Amino acid sequence: MEAPSKEFALAGSLEELKLKGRLVVHGGHRPILVIYDRGRIFALDNRCPHMGFPLERGSVEDGILTCHWHHARFDLESGCTFDLWADDVPICPVEVRNGDVWVKTTFTHADLAAHWHQRLANGLAHDLGLVIAKAMHGLLAAGVPQAEIIRQVALFGAQNRDGWGVGLTILTALANILPVLPEEEAYLALYHGARRVAADCDGEAPRRERAPLGSRPDPAALKRWLRRWTNVRHREAAERTLLTAIAAGFSRAELADALFAAGTERAFADTGHSLDFINKAFECLDLVGWQQAAALLPAVVGQMVAARGAEESTAWRQPVDLVALCEESTSELADLFAAGRGSRDWSGHAALAQELLGDDPASIVDALKEAIRAGAAPADLGQSLAYAAALRVARFGNANEYADWETAHHAFTYANAVHQMLTRIGTANIDTHVTAVRGVLHGAMALYLARYLNVPPARIPGEQLDDLPADPGTIGAALLDAFDRQRQVDVAASLVARHLTLGHSPQTLIVTLAHAVLREDAGFHAYQMLEAGVRQYGAWGDTDEGRHILIAVARYLAAHSPTERASLQTADIARRLMRGGKLHQEAGSS
Ligand code: FES
Repeated sequence: MEAPSKEFALAGSLEELKLKGRLVVHGGHRPILVIYDRGRIFALDNRCPHMGFPLERGSVEDGILTCHWHHARFDLESGCTFDLWADDVPICPVEVRNGDVWVKTTFTHADLAAHWHQRLANGLAHDLGLVIAKAMHGLLAAGVPQAEIIRQVALFGAQNRDGWGVGLTILTALANILPVLPEEEAYLALYHGARRVAADCDGEAPRRERAPLGSRPDPAALKRWLRRWTNVRHREAAERTLLTAIAAGFSRAELADALFAAGTERAFADTGHSLDFINKAFECLDLVGWQQAAALLPAVVGQMVAARGAEESTAWRQPVDLVALCEESTSELADLFAAGRGSRDWSGHAALAQELLGDDPASIVDALKEAIRAGAAPADLGQSLAYAAALRVARFGNANEYADWETAHHAFTYANAVHQMLTRIGTANIDTHVTAVRGVLHGAMALYLARYLNVPPARIPGEQLDDLPADPGTIGAALLDAFDRQRQVDVAASLVARHLTLGHSPQTLIVTLAHAVLREDAGFHAYQMLEAGVRQYGAWGDTDEGRHILIAVARYLAAHSPTERASLQTADIARRLMRGGKLHQEAGSS
């Protein structure tokens, strides 16, 4: 007998189906459940969309199919679920021909990309990890560009929460490292980013749009106003001013300068998170397109104006008034940059970093001034600051309290943000340098206050590591094994040092570190640490300093691993369901 088409498979005779009530069709396709119910025939993927339990073991009543594992219920006709966390079950066409039942064995949609975009929107709207994971898999399999996926998630995050959150920061951090990740890890990175954005927005009030001013004040006035509104915590005014700057066509550097100037009105605001979020919003626009500036950039303003500055904290005021020291030095910056402008070949990054780790704040500030006088540009100072902050983490003493890791971490990710923003702002405008360099001064003081985290310093492993494996694959496996166990901080550091001193590929090591993060239920800071480390390694390259930076990353990650890995389980289930695998083969066999 001929099949209705090559895509159809014979399920059995209609009489047999009526007798048994249900049949399962196996073959080189997904198992298909065919159900006879009150005179009608339905065909569905036999694997429950939640976790793959065989639906043939479910029950049917009043047109509703119930899976008995977690009791998700589905409309038999459409496959749509009544329980959103379980996801819809795919259905397929059925034909009865000459008394036989045939089912179509392919599950597809006319416009796959549109289908998965819609599924992603549903997953984000209801914070459904499994739906998000499947949608991410579907979008990537349909060939949708990563930037398009990131754009959808980023815009959802900006519109459905009143302010930039950790989810958007994680999304951007992971999106930044996508170019070095293999396919499987890219799927996990996008999934984690989207999942965290959805979680951030769950139950939150959506953002209310503001409009730019009707006038076009000059750029200097807009920058002044943004600082003024930040000082008096006037969010509405600050947002409208920023929107006006965007509408007026400010360049990316001008926008960065204006927000950086406003963001540094308070020292090390919100332990550095405020500036880090601003930097991430800029990086997000680089990824998704600057035509989205009005939708994304204002999301950082609420936190920026509300942030608590370090000037309100005792540690920054006594026994040394660090805020006053920074302010005093800021007034000298214009002259210092003018003096140093003739020297273009400054290269004292590593030496300056060592001075930034000193224990006298006045000497630290003097070292920065001297570097400027000698020709260091703002971005050079940022690079030195970031390396010095990485050394705080690389030398973090194991006797410290666990929570102290976050103090070291905050200084590093803040310093990285300062470095990235100063690079973006550039050197076209001397006024810009002066204001923006306040961020370096604040970062240097935060680093100074964290000096006891290196007393005594942890030893940074060097060349004497002959007892460790030499092959890169074995080193990588040993590193992942170290992350499988608690408190393997020094083991992880030694393995990273071993890999790099033997001249193995840094990219291979970075992929291993990324894998170590992406398989965990990682905290916000772990994503930040990974991405900032990769960025800074990119600045220093294959040098001792670059090695120290990746050692710092590995030490931090080792201190925060392992976790339950529940998110990875969800991503894995989604992947196997999407690929047509049988998650419960023994139970599903018939
Ligand atoms: S409800 Fe079916 S597997 Fe969970």
